[in-house]
Amino acid sequence: MRRAHERFDRRSGILTSGNASRAELVSADSHRYAPTPVRFFRSILRKLDLDEENTTLIDLGSGKGRALILANERPFRAIIGVEFSPDLCPIARANLAATNCRGEIIWGSISDYEFPEGKLLVFFFNFAGPTILRPVLERLSHREATVIYLNAKHPELFDGRWTVLRRGDTFDEDGSVFMPYRVYRTIPEGWWHGTETLDFQIGPLNLGRWTFSRSVLRSHPARGRPTDAARHPSSLPSPAPG
Ligand SMILES: C[S@@+](CC[C@H](N)C(=O)[O-])C[C@H]1O[C@@H](n2cnc3c(N)ncnc32)[C@H](O)[C@@H]1O
Repeated sequence: MRRAHERFDRRSGILTSGNASRAELVSADSHRYAPTPVRFFRSILRKLDLDEENTTLIDLGSGKGRALILANERPFRAIIGVEFSPDLCPIARANLAATNCRGEIIWGSISDYEFPEGKLLVFFFNFAGPTILRPVLERLSHREATVIYLNAKHPELFDGRWTVLRRGDTFDEDGSVFMPYRVYRTIPEGWWHGTETLDFQIGPLNLGRWTFSRSVLRSHPARGRPTDAARHPSSLPSPAPG
């Protein structure tokens, strides 16, 4: 039986499978090309409840364009790939043309890339390590952005300005490497996100502990719990006459 990536390449009449050697890369913190697993990417896009018509999908390290071609199956506002390999960019452009994909390939390093206006869905698959990722995440954290992070080796880079929407594991396209993935979303300005712990205790007996994550308005006196005055504005004292 043909595997999903072989069927994808054959039906599209393109070649996105196969890895590139590390020697082709220009930065020590950058990773080599390996294509996005077809089933994983289709399924995660389906599961995310995004306003796709108003969202731009950006693949950071777009390789031969596979993720962009898969994203073209959905109604994203725009589809962009950023790729610094001079060998892979022309291959990706040819693949996009052959599949009538409306995506655009930008040749350059993600470190110099300026994200477009509006809502963003950004895909990272193994494209770089912390030195490159950290400043990219800092820029994104001020935006309305969702990040799909496949082969999530550095979850510590997503600090308190991000919340985890999904997490799990998936195989690479050969079914030989098991990779963790996470989906993060930025927390809007003014909100706090963190974990809280509840202990279930009867007298000296501890029955259990429940840790859960919570987002609340940071500016609020009770960390988001509305006060009586906020719930019932009519309960505020009336201004003094005259
Ligand atoms: C694992 S591949 C990603 C494959 C791709 N997303 C797909 O759909 O198949 C990682 C890619 O990131 C590119 N890359 C690595 N560092 C980069 C950087 N700093 N700027 C732009 N592209 C980079 C590599 O050349 C490689 O093609």
